[in-house]
Formats: sequence, structure tokens, C-alpha cells
Amino acid sequence: MVPDDDIHPEFDRMLGRDAKERLLAQRGCVLWLYGLSGSGKSTLAHELEKKMHGDGVLTRLLDGDNIRTGLNRGLGFSDDDRLENIRRISEVARLFAETGIVTLAAFITPTRALRALARAIVGARDFREVYVKASFATCAARDVKGLYAKAAAGGVKHFTGKDSLFEEPDPSTGGLVVIDTEDASLEDSTDALYRIVRPLIAPQDARGT
Ligand code: ADX
Repeated sequence: MVPDDDIHPEFDRMLGRDAKERLLAQRGCVLWLYGLSGSGKSTLAHELEKKMHGDGVLTRLLDGDNIRTGLNRGLGFSDDDRLENIRRISEVARLFAETGIVTLAAFITPTRALRALARAIVGARDFREVYVKASFATCAARDVKGLYAKAAAGGVKHFTGKDSLFEEPDPSTGGLVVIDTEDASLEDSTDALYRIVRPLIAPQDARGT
């Protein structure tokens, strides 16, 4: 480890967030979509991103399987590795949000502690939790990637919801949004989410602040 005294960050010389948000005419934020594998996080995030892009909003989508082939290549699914996965992604999401970019993060984020970590790193003001809800049985029936069948046959270690914990959200979480993908169509879910996001990303002037 390099001693902290040897690192000299210079945040105050950097061009500020306000200037970037004015340039983009939007406010940065992080929308953190979590839920079981196959619950529809990525699909929902993709749809929302397309919609926002069509409206001239600059977005960045960070997604579990993609990030795990690059930035987080080599991390597995033990508790420690999941924590490191979420920690790094949260730091990256924060950088995007501070650049004024509407950032969509789609990761299982299986525990309340991991969601709290993401919120703490990003900063509560910029962070919104979205629980993409579908039961284990429904995700197993969809089995888009064939992982549920593989896990049932014993071929996947630490599989979320089977031999690795998935915690439902704490209902007292501030501003928690739940999108139930068993009940609602993709179009309705995307619209519902967009209605929630719109006021968050409106530029400061538009909100009269
Ligand atoms: S997280 O728990 O650390 O947030 P993340 O969202 O990055 O997980 O990765 C989840 C994706 O990895 C799943 O959608 C699935 O495609 C794949 N995967 C591979 N092994 C597992 C496993 N043991 N448990 C859950 N997902 C797995």
C-alpha cells in the first residue's frame, strides 16, 4: 500500500460539476437498479437509456456482466468479491454523476449492506434505489442465460438466491422505488421509472433552485 501522505489529490483545481451540468443542461445522478439475475434490471435500464437518449439526455449504463469482463474482471461471487465489485462500480458511478451524466447501474447488489455502501459512496443526494422485483421461481422459469438450470445442477458456485443470500429491500429506505416485472409490461415499467427520474435530472434553473 502507498502511504496516504504520498497521494496528493487536487480536487479544487478541477472544473466544477455545476459548469458541466450547465453545459449539458441536465443534472447528474445515479439510478441503482438491483434484483435477482434475470429479474429484468438490464432490460429495463436499456429501455430507459434509449428513451432518455431520444430526449437528449446524456446517459451511461453500467451493467453486471459487462463490467465483470473489464474493470472487475477476475472478481467472483464470494461476499468479499461482491463487495469489491460494488465498491468499484459505486466509485465509477459517482465520477459519472459528478460529470453531470445520468448513470444507470444494473447489478444484483444482493444485500442491504451493499446497497448502503453504494449510497454512501455515491452520496445520498445523487442516489436512487430501484428494486427490480421478480421471484426466484420466475427468474428460474425465464432463465435467459441458462444459469438457473446450471445452478440447479450444481454447476454455479455462490448462486444468488440459491446458496448466496438475496435480501429484500428495507421498506424504510428513503425514496425506494419498486418495479415489479412480473406484473407490469416493459413499456409501463420504463414509463413509470422515467416519470420518477425526470425531476431528478432537470437542470437547476428549470427547478428554480
Ligand atoms: S453482484 O452480486 O456482485 O451485484 P453482478 O450484478 O455484478 O452481481 O453480476 C451478476 C451476473 O453475473 C448475473 O446476472 C449472471 O449473469 C452472472 N453470474 C455468474 N455467476 C453468478 C452467481 N454465482 N450468482 C449470481 N450471478 C452470477
